[in-house]
Amino acid sequence: MCGIVGYIGKKNSKEVILKGLSRLEYRGYDSAGIAVHSNGINQLKTSGKVADLDAKCIKEKLPKSSIGIGHTRWATHGIPNDTNAHPHQDITRNFTLVHNGIIENYLTLKKYLAQNGIECKSDTDTEVLVQLISYIYNKDKISFEESVRYALMKVVGAYGIVVLCGDEPDKIIAARHGSPLVFGIGDSEFIIASDTSPIIEFTRKIVYLDDAELVVFTRDDYYVKSILENHIILKTVNEIQFSLNQIEKNGYDHFMLKEINEQSNSIAESMRGRIIIDEGRIKLGGLQEAIQDILNAKRIIITACGTSWHASLIGSFVIEELVRIPVNVEYASEFRYRETIVGPDTVLFAISQSGETADTLAAIKKAKSLGALTIGVVNVVGSSIARETDHGVYIHAGPEIGVASTKAFTSQVTVLNLIAILLAQAKDRNIKEVANLVNDLKLLPEKVELILKQSKKIKSIADNYIDAENFLYLGRGYQFPVALEGALKLKEISYIHAEGYPAAEMKHGPIALIDENMPVVFIVNEKGYEKIISNIQEVRARGGKVIIVTSIDQEELHEYSSHVIHVPSIHQCILPILTTIPLQLLAYYLAKAKGCDVDQPRNLAKSVTVE
Ligand code: G6P
Repeated sequence: MCGIVGYIGKKNSKEVILKGLSRLEYRGYDSAGIAVHSNGINQLKTSGKVADLDAKCIKEKLPKSSIGIGHTRWATHGIPNDTNAHPHQDITRNFTLVHNGIIENYLTLKKYLAQNGIECKSDTDTEVLVQLISYIYNKDKISFEESVRYALMKVVGAYGIVVLCGDEPDKIIAARHGSPLVFGIGDSEFIIASDTSPIIEFTRKIVYLDDAELVVFTRDDYYVKSILENHIILKTVNEIQFSLNQIEKNGYDHFMLKEINEQSNSIAESMRGRIIIDEGRIKLGGLQEAIQDILNAKRIIITACGTSWHASLIGSFVIEELVRIPVNVEYASEFRYRETIVGPDTVLFAISQSGETADTLAAIKKAKSLGALTIGVVNVVGSSIARETDHGVYIHAGPEIGVASTKAFTSQVTVLNLIAILLAQAKDRNIKEVANLVNDLKLLPEKVELILKQSKKIKSIADNYIDAENFLYLGRGYQFPVALEGALKLKEISYIHAEGYPAAEMKHGPIALIDENMPVVFIVNEKGYEKIISNIQEVRARGGKVIIVTSIDQEELHEYSSHVIHVPSIHQCILPILTTIPLQLLAYYLAKAKGCDVDQPRNLAKSVTVE
């Protein structure tokens, strides 16, 4: 969470930083700030979005400068006001700093500073760090770099920081531990950011900073050092793998709508080169060496958060059905603190769009420390989870900017199916069933297109429910995780309270909520058809309004509901991909009709790098 940009070069840093922050705004958008060097440090901050900061920079005439730092915040410590916005300055005004992460021992450090006459102005954990750097600098009379390094050695917690020092106006220092930072190497310029999206306009050459590393930029050079040992680290220069076009809205009203509409292509990309056409076999380069270990495992655990957890649940159903190995799905935030049974005979899959989710990363580290083999299923190339895991498969959905995840989910489910097929083929299990699934996978992109063609119809259904205060989503089997995902999408972006439940569980509680004001979305597939019809009748008997999403062509479904959305039929393991798309569209059109900020819903952030 929180977006960071730093720039040193020849351009007006304000332009680079504000553009970069707007690309990072999906990470947090409750306040923003900028600091530049120009006869000392000049800084401006404001609650609100990057656009508000831009207006403030114009109004208050932020001086031109070719070196600066900026931040867009997702509040952890302290409400989102001007004082708590980053950058934070020390009392001497010689240092300023932007930070992503949480300094866990900030109260201890704050007390220590207070005992030495330094009082913090804000409620943030971040200010403590900049005051500490300044305190060490003045007390020990050591360099800017050494002061940052010593201060960081006293910090417990997670950070990605970028710091300026008034005494050294041609230098930027950045450091990372637990929160992502990557820098771009341009033509006599460097840009450092929380991810690559602000960098791509300037250069494709990038370096990922690793934990416990610090980088020092001067006008024409840089070096990376270990924070603890203080020795130089030689870093690999990588290439950014996406194009600028992929992170633009390209005429759509919202990134979310663009990403929903990209799904036939993103799913095709997830499968590209991975199905050997003549043989119907699956090839996943990143898993090749791990196949036997997975098949020999006593236990598979899939861990994730949010939407990725829903995809994981579907993945677990497919692996158990096709491969017959027990699979547990764990919320990463729970897994890491539970006395879970993990050992060398465990394989842990971590599913993550961003590859940066702090809880998922911590779960991987825990599993590794207990001897488990770890495998990442990640979208963002080069992300922390991709680098932390022993093996991995990228989902190749392309950059996802909308805070509510859409195309990443359908690509995750696609790739989890590929993994299950690969394992089943290696084990020679369910040969016929697997062959049918492979054939149906190839048909996915065109079937997705058929659903997207129903957008208008789904919009008109959404228009009926603008005043709804609650929604219930019900499904059985493979459609139960879809019910969870449909409900999550709706609450994330429209702020309508929604619950997803296994359809049969309705009678154990949620049925008490049903009256004529309660829309209930049923996701109906073949398995358990008769049973779910009974559940639909139970809702109707209590006056609830029924919306059905289904692959089944049965006249009676129209009789039992106010609206039916048909999706093409396909193998049940991948049907969730098709049934989720109408629910994404329903949530989108409801949120849009209610005037909600679809791409930047309140309180949320796309990349959750705090625990
Ligand atoms: C946040 C995002 C969700 C996402 C979840 C897990 O809550 O808003 O869209 O599903 O984090 O993120 P990950 O990047 O690990 O998939």
